[in-house]
Amino acid sequence: MEKVEILTKSKNYHVFIGENILQALTTKLDGFSKVLIITDETVSEYYQNTLIEYFPKSIIYTVPSGEKAKTFNVYEECINFALKAGLDRKSAIFAFGGGAVGDLAGFVAATYMRGIGFVQIPTTILAHDSAVGGKVAINHPLGKNIVGAFYQPEMVIYDTLFLKSLPKRQIRSGFSEVIKHALIADPLFLKQLMQEVSSIDQVNSDKLPQYLKRGIEIKASFVSIDEREAGIRAFLNFGHTLGHAIEANAGFGDLTHGEAVMSGMVFALYISEQNVGLEFNIQQFIQWIEMLGYEWKIPSYMKFDIIFELMKRDKKSINGNPSFVLLEEIGKPLMAEVEEQLLKETFYKMRK
Ligand SMILES: NC(=O)c1ccc[n+]([C@@H]2O[C@H](COP(=O)([O-])OP(=O)(O)OC[C@H]3O[C@@H](n4cnc5c(N)ncnc54)[C@H](O)[C@@H]3O)[C@@H](O)[C@H]2O)c1
Repeated sequence: MEKVEILTKSKNYHVFIGENILQALTTKLDGFSKVLIITDETVSEYYQNTLIEYFPKSIIYTVPSGEKAKTFNVYEECINFALKAGLDRKSAIFAFGGGAVGDLAGFVAATYMRGIGFVQIPTTILAHDSAVGGKVAINHPLGKNIVGAFYQPEMVIYDTLFLKSLPKRQIRSGFSEVIKHALIADPLFLKQLMQEVSSIDQVNSDKLPQYLKRGIEIKASFVSIDEREAGIRAFLNFGHTLGHAIEANAGFGDLTHGEAVMSGMVFALYISEQNVGLEFNIQQFIQWIEMLGYEWKIPSYMKFDIIFELMKRDKKSINGNPSFVLLEEIGKPLMAEVEEQLLKETFYKMRK
């Protein structure tokens, strides 16, 4: 089993990574007056019996799968359920699912009685990113993750056994955040990924825990310096300014988060080349991601004006001007405002 320590101002905790580790670690999770496990319909179909076996005393609440979980309605239903089940300030909420469940359950835990215990048990590759660092949120129809909090878990137990049931599309989605971590922080890691992974079927191999661990270490290195995103933590949003906008424009859930972020990363790479002199073989990168099956082009029905308005609402915007994480070099991010004209040209260059 691998272990990564996450050090933040508000809390220090561990991420445990390995195959078939959850059962052995359940004793670390004793001591709460009550435990409510929030999971989603799909994950529950696969693993409800496992949850009942591992956590016989807990209560399980199942929410809709995907972004449909991150709504005001579902949030309220979770709070109602927790109240009726008698959760108190010594109780805990365990998130068992992907990033959507983690974000929702974390926001419930952060706000229920002003904050109760919270444990992340992620079941997607993408959640190597979302389960670490303490950002929790639900969506507003006008913007993603608009209502949320910084709320660190007590612990993250990342049992890679659960990743075996992930459909290919979700593997691809999650792997794009692994690629993001490599692009913003570690050129050698990027090289390794480009050499070792030449089809999406190779992602879920015995090397996966090592890739996830490296991704988590990179995330931890930003979060430990800047827990509340006053500065360098924002670099983790590489690819997300456009990514979130096209996700919102498509209607949350139509594109996966990772698909949208991949388009956003290619966009940010092109702009980095123009604006800050990035020297990187973008064409070779595109050939690689196409080999992995990424649809990186912006859907043909999307219009720049709408996307631009959505980008202006991004949380990194200052005075309504969208700002972007760009790369001076692979592994050297910076934040910059970008002229609307260049954004527009790059947008149309990338549209299907
Ligand atoms: N908090 C953060 O720091 C952070 C960072 C990145 C992304 N996010 C958020 O994470 C979300 C995306 O995460 P995600 O891609 O994990 O999405 P998700 O939770 O929607 O999961 C994707 C799909 O896979 C299914 N699934 C989950 N685990 C499975 C398993 N083991 N086997 C089979 N199916 C499974 C889910 O039911 C869902 O349909 C977005 O809402 C995004 O905003 C948050």
